[in-house]
Amino acid sequence: MKLRQTFLQRLKQFYSALTASVTESDLAFIQKNLSKQEQALFFQMDVVDQRHALDVAGYAYQAATARGLGSKRKVLVKAALLHDIGKVRGELTLLTRLAFVLCPALVAKYRKKAWKSLKEHASRGAHMAETFGVEKEVVDLIREHHNQEASSESLEVLQEADALL
Ligand SMILES: [Fe+2]
Ligand SMILES: [Fe+2]
Repeated sequence: MKLRQTFLQRLKQFYSALTASVTESDLAFIQKNLSKQEQALFFQMDVVDQRHALDVAGYAYQAATARGLGSKRKVLVKAALLHDIGKVRGELTLLTRLAFVLCPALVAKYRKKAWKSLKEHASRGAHMAETFGVEKEVVDLIREHHNQEASSESLEVLQEADALL
């Protein structure tokens, strides 16, 4: 039963990756929340990561409102949109990640290298954002987004959204 659920979940992830897209209203949302410079960073990601970032940002926006974090919402949404930019310069291509999703055993050979790259994407992304002049609060959230011990409510919201979507 559990195996079947995992397989179905993988199939769903695979389908989502294949059908990922960015709509006109997504573009408006991106333009509203990111500067031109930050948009250049965002659009370096492949469409699967762009879709994920948009979903995380949408969830974070709602959650921040519900928790009364209105004053931090702008920073949180920007961090959500940019939190995975470090994957851009990683060694995990879209194809490799899809192979992982479908059948990890097939790519066991690359697993260690790919896992290391995935783990490093948070600090790599923070460095990229810093280089592009993104504000410190956003850079810090990007750097910490996989840190197990959330040190702020904004980070908690970002991690919650990231884990769900
Ligand atoms: Fe991440
Ligand atoms: Fe993520």
